[in-house]
Amino acid sequence: MLVKNSRAWELPEAVATPESAYLNRRQLLQGMAAGTAAVGSGLMSSVSAFAAPPGADLYPFTRNETYKIQRALSDEQQVNTYNNFYEFGSHKKIYKAAQKLKTDDWTVAFDGLIEEPFEINVDDLLRQMPREERLYRHRCVEAWSMIVPWSGFSLKALVDFARPLSGATHVRFETFMDRYKAPGQRQSWFPWPYTEGLTMAEATNELAFISTGLYGKPLKNQNGAPIRLVVPWKYGFKSIKSIVRISFTDSQPATFWNTINDELYGFWANVNPDVPFPDWSQATEKLLGTGKHIPTRLYNGYGEFVSHLYDGMDADKIYF
Ligand code: MTE
Repeated sequence: MLVKNSRAWELPEAVATPESAYLNRRQLLQGMAAGTAAVGSGLMSSVSAFAAPPGADLYPFTRNETYKIQRALSDEQQVNTYNNFYEFGSHKKIYKAAQKLKTDDWTVAFDGLIEEPFEINVDDLLRQMPREERLYRHRCVEAWSMIVPWSGFSLKALVDFARPLSGATHVRFETFMDRYKAPGQRQSWFPWPYTEGLTMAEATNELAFISTGLYGKPLKNQNGAPIRLVVPWKYGFKSIKSIVRISFTDSQPATFWNTINDELYGFWANVNPDVPFPDWSQATEKLLGTGKHIPTRLYNGYGEFVSHLYDGMDADKIYF
C-alpha cells in the first residue's frame, strides 16, 4: 500500500515529531538563518547545535496495516540498547560508542547499472519517497528476536527512483567507512566496509524496506541511522545499517559475513528453523523482553510474500 504524502511544507505543525529533543525543520532553518546572520555580524553561533536528523519534521509516518503482528511490540529501550553494529564493537552495548557518528547531513551514492549515477541527501530523499510505518519481526542468526515498528519506505520505491538498467541482476549496499569514529573498523581482519546484497527480485519484493526511523522517530545511530535496509524474512545480518552507497550489478556481490565465512553466513540467509548453526539450533528463538522462547518459522513467518522467490531451490540453498 502506498501512503499518499503531503509535501513537507504542507504538513501542519501538529504532525511534526512530538519529541522535544528534535527540532522541526522550520526551527532548524530559522536556526541556520540566525547562524548565518551571526557569522555576518561577527557573532558566530554554533550552527551544529541546530542539526536535526534527516526528515525529523516528517515523523511519525502513517502505519501500513497490511503488516500486522499478533504479538506486542518489543520494548523501545531494549531495541535501542541491545544491538549488533560491529563498526562500534563486537558486543551488544554499542549504543554509546555509536553516538560519535554524525548522521544529520548524510548522502547516499547510487551507481553501477543505472541510467545516471547520482548522490542524494537522505533528507531530500525522504521527502520524495512514499513514507509509511510497518511492524516487522526481526530475527537474528544468534536466535534472538524482536518485534519492531520501522518507519521508512519500500526498497522497490527506491529501486524505481534509481532507474536501473535491464541488465542489473543484484543490488549491493555499503556502510560508511570511518576508522576514527568507528573503532571496530580498525580491526583489519574484518572485510570493511560492511556490505550486503540482494537479487533484484528480492529487492523489489514488497517486504523489502528501507528504514529511516523506529517507534515514530528518526533512527538512532545504534540502529543504523540515518538509513538502513530491513529484510524481515532473512537473518538480521542482511539488514545493513548506515548505508552510503547502493550499486546495481550484474553478478552476486561479495558480502561482509559471507566473505568472513561462507559456510556459516550464506548469501541467501533466509530464516530457516531446519538449518541449525553449528553450535545451536535455529528451531526456536528468544523473544527479547518477554522471557519466552517461541518456534521459529520458515522465512520468519513471511512465506506467503517471499517463498515464490526460491521456487526450485533445496532446503540447504534456501538458507545458504
Ligand atoms: N550493519 C552494519 N553496518 N554493521 C553491523 O555490524 N549487524 C547486523 C545488521 N546490520 C550490522 C549491520 C546484524 S548481525 C544484525 S542482527 C542487525 O543489524 C541488528 O540490528 P539492530 O541492532 O537494529 O537490532
